[in-house]
Amino acid sequence: MALLYAEQVEYLDVEEMQETHEDEIKLLNEVDKLATKYLINKSNLSELEAKLDEYIAHVKVHFANEERLMRKYDFPSYDMHKTAHDMFLTDVSYAVKQWKEYGNVDKIINFIYKSPEWIVLHINTVDTPTARYIAQQMALEKE
Ligand SMILES: [Fe+2]
Ligand SMILES: [Fe+2]
Repeated sequence: MALLYAEQVEYLDVEEMQETHEDEIKLLNEVDKLATKYLINKSNLSELEAKLDEYIAHVKVHFANEERLMRKYDFPSYDMHKTAHDMFLTDVSYAVKQWKEYGNVDKIINFIYKSPEWIVLHINTVDTPTARYIAQQMALEKE
């Protein structure tokens, strides 16, 4: 069983946003698998940490790219969407600090396990209308 399935989130009108979400869900599920293994036998910490770094880097690029698209197409609710990203990143940073500075990898594992709820809500209620707007603007641009 995966932590999150691509089918749980809306399919977006902007292809690059959709692809980013699918790639990120794959990474999240890889983190989940490694974390579960780590919690059972404590043997694969470096592999888990490398995957966590990869996942977090992906989240940052993902958010920055959505923000770039929103600015490019003058999305009216940019501030609201950007604030939602920033709040999530603040929580990520706190968990990363606990992990990297205090060696508490359990904090980031807990954060990962709780994150699907936010991810599904964000994609379905914030990214979906954003992508709809951006796709309309992209279509107008082509005319
Ligand atoms: Fe997104
Ligand atoms: Fe977003």
